[in-house]
Amino acid sequence: MCGIIGYAGNRDIKKLLVESLKRLEYRGYDSVGIGIISDKLNVFKEVGDVSNFERKLPKLKGNIGIGHTRWATHGEVSKLNAHPQISCNNKIAVVHNGIVENFKELKEKLKGHKFESQTDTEVIAHLIEENYKGSLLEAVCLAIKKIKGSYSIVVISEDEPDKIVGARNESPLIIGLGDGENFLASDIPAFLKYTKRVVYLNDEEICLLKNDSIKIYDLNGNEKLKEETIINWDIKDAEKSGFPHYMLKEIHDQQDTIQRALIGRIFEIEREIKFEEIIESLLTNRYNNIHIIACGTSYYSGFVGKYLIENLTGIPVYVDLASEYRFYGIRDNSSLVIAISQSGETSDTLAALKEAKKSGCNTLVITNVIGSSATRIADGFILTQSGPEIGVAATKTFTSQIIVLFLLALKISFNLKNIGTQQLYEFILQLKELPRKARAALDQSATIREISKDFFKERSFLFIGRGINYPLALEGALKLKEISYIQAEGFAAGELKHGPFALLTKNFPVVVIVTKDISYDKILANIGEAKARGAKIIAIADQNDTDIEKYADIVIRYPSVSNMLACIPISIILQLLAYHIADLRNCSIDKPRNLAKSVTVE
Ligand code: F6R
Repeated sequence: MCGIIGYAGNRDIKKLLVESLKRLEYRGYDSVGIGIISDKLNVFKEVGDVSNFERKLPKLKGNIGIGHTRWATHGEVSKLNAHPQISCNNKIAVVHNGIVENFKELKEKLKGHKFESQTDTEVIAHLIEENYKGSLLEAVCLAIKKIKGSYSIVVISEDEPDKIVGARNESPLIIGLGDGENFLASDIPAFLKYTKRVVYLNDEEICLLKNDSIKIYDLNGNEKLKEETIINWDIKDAEKSGFPHYMLKEIHDQQDTIQRALIGRIFEIEREIKFEEIIESLLTNRYNNIHIIACGTSYYSGFVGKYLIENLTGIPVYVDLASEYRFYGIRDNSSLVIAISQSGETSDTLAALKEAKKSGCNTLVITNVIGSSATRIADGFILTQSGPEIGVAATKTFTSQIIVLFLLALKISFNLKNIGTQQLYEFILQLKELPRKARAALDQSATIREISKDFFKERSFLFIGRGINYPLALEGALKLKEISYIQAEGFAAGELKHGPFALLTKNFPVVVIVTKDISYDKILANIGEAKARGAKIIAIADQNDTDIEKYADIVIRYPSVSNMLACIPISIILQLLAYHIADLRNCSIDKPRNLAKSVTVE
């Protein structure tokens, strides 16, 4: 989705805005623009990428500026529709994420205003102009009271050349605090190079930034004092570290991020799993059932979590797509609702979470972003601690979400006395082994690249698995389709004969996830059935499985781990397979077409 940066300070403003916009590129965009106040307001916009835009920019000076990467929602991709959008008098510039639902109505009321773009954002600029009586802050405040919908906006005005005003409602906006400079952005990586001190704006809050001060108000003009948070992300986490793509770097980060998901939660000597107090208290309740709500890859980690939690606790777990749950989900206030969202900002997930809370359910969120909207809605949150994920395709956050779900399952199981201290201890030992297992899976990268060379020109793939491997098959297919644009579908292996068989032709690639569990014989039978119909089988199998060679055409090995934790190295192998196939096809891996990292609109 769109990215926003605002800056008040003495650095080279053009360089700073362009660099920050480059760091927001991962969110997905189609056009770009900046607005800088020098002696007057200067606005520059282009369709296309930031580097191309940068080449066309003249020398620029100023101490106040805003920038935006646009992902079109209202109006085609064009220079006119790019942000900043400006007022009639060319003095006020606005960048905006989100949607103004009542923009047509507002436009009709703005008599005498000439609109140049098709965007909803332009209405905000005109509305601020209409309300301007000498104070930008007041004008923005009056304007946003009239707006319906979700937004984060950042505004500058030629008449107040030392100020930036920002406001949010259901779309993230974060203040970065510097020394003699301040930032405002939709996402932390935009200013992470300069500061780790942040203040999160809440819905219906408005802020006034100067280079040496920040003030935050509610919509009635009352000043609010807010605490700052220190982000423990490193700028190196937001860079490629020599890898050709963020995605590959983030896949390789997993040896470390798995460790980080465990830190401060597993205690070998005490034989304990611990969460923060609020989470501990949520987990002591006896729940009739657990609902997991999420979208995309986070939904699939939730689906893996269903197998883990049901297996260890016996509590039924329902996994719902957040976009469905928010309208159709059964809200049972005796259930625990777990929302999973890497960004903590996905619009449907937030809406579903709010619905669950409204119905009196206890709510908990698993996210990677401290201070994100989801953390402020739920009763408690658990951070995945993976560092920023820049590649649009989720990788390291997926495995960390699974680890957190596994820890939750163990904790609930222990509280219910389903497992005792000794069993818990054995699981802790297995968890401690996981970073090493992840390394062993990563070591398969060169082999997977070679295998990919035989398949990268294929037009379709099937992914199948049973039990916990079924959601992994779904995720493997999603990963491949989103970055390589190859049609890929995931199925529970038992379903093949109920339809998907019709797709199989000679050499049709079928990726089969094989673990030596209770359905091992059945999955071998499924392989046989698919082969009999001409399919080419790529099996992902345990390194100690000596039988699989007899069934599959190609075998990719994962290091032996207990069945419940094999999902971690298997996920890494699926990610590598998708990555290498997409890379051989020269795809835009970190920014797949039509996709955005943080889906903050519905
Ligand atoms: C796929 C992917 C998306 C996200 C989905 C939810 O690789 O990244 O499917 O998983 O958009 O995003 P979050 O987890 O931020 O709620």
